[in-house]
Amino acid sequence: MPTDYDPIAELYQLSKRQPWRTHVEAHTFLGRVGDVTGRAVLDVACGEGFYTRLLKQRGAARVAGVDLSAGMVELARTQEAEHRLGITYQVGDARNLAFDGEFDLVVAAYLLNYARNRSELAAMCAGIARCLKPGGRFVTVNSNPATHFPTLPSFRKYGFEVSHSASDEWREGSPIRWKFYLDGQAFEIENYYLGVAAHEEALAGAGFRDVRWHAPQLAPQGEVEFGADFWSLLLTQCPVAFLECMR
Ligand SMILES: C[S@@+](CC[C@H](N)C(=O)[O-])C[C@H]1O[C@@H](n2cnc3c(N)ncnc32)[C@H](O)[C@@H]1O
Repeated sequence: MPTDYDPIAELYQLSKRQPWRTHVEAHTFLGRVGDVTGRAVLDVACGEGFYTRLLKQRGAARVAGVDLSAGMVELARTQEAEHRLGITYQVGDARNLAFDGEFDLVVAAYLLNYARNRSELAAMCAGIARCLKPGGRFVTVNSNPATHFPTLPSFRKYGFEVSHSASDEWREGSPIRWKFYLDGQAFEIENYYLGVAAHEEALAGAGFRDVRWHAPQLAPQGEVEFGADFWSLLLTQCPVAFLECMR
């Protein structure tokens, strides 16, 4: 079953404070997003609005967030009510979005890895493409489709583990389990493995071109705070990948 985020919305929000999220994930993702000044931006699978808020704070003119989880959207709206940025949030499914060619940029952090098969992946990519103006861009970070998850090392020192159940055959659609360790608490989420070719096929089928995959980058501050050695495992065997393409 796909992860239901409603009961873990607040714990997931806390996990975004882990240093690897800031110094590697957000640093690389926002680096690929680039300058959003004056742009119309849609954050699909926005969760509690972590990237949605950052994009508005970085000068986007219009920002909207959509997520399947009512609990996540509620958390996002609560933060919008407390610190008004002018972002609109709604509950919705990436495969069936109610926007029509309105956005210069669509971002989606950890959405595509919720597709359980090629047909769900194609539907997500088509849904995203429909939201973009011609020439618009899609940027995403996801479980890394080039990774062989059954043989990954431990990432416990970064505050998480990612694994594939040894009792399951490793195949397209295999569940990938992420366990996050917070101060005195832990929670798990599950998403699914589809390879690089499956992603590129779905993106091309939705009309995307110039697909580029990017390796993780370390923010200079991350090296200052923890030293380069600390990060080498995550940077060389990274279980997340970054991707951008054009409509
Ligand atoms: C790992 S969370 C990421 C949240 C946010 N993007 C972030 O990086 O903090 C994945 C999110 O994807 C959402 N999601 C999963 N399938 C979806 C779909 N088909 N349409 C929209 N959102 C979906 C979940 O509800 C969840 O909030």
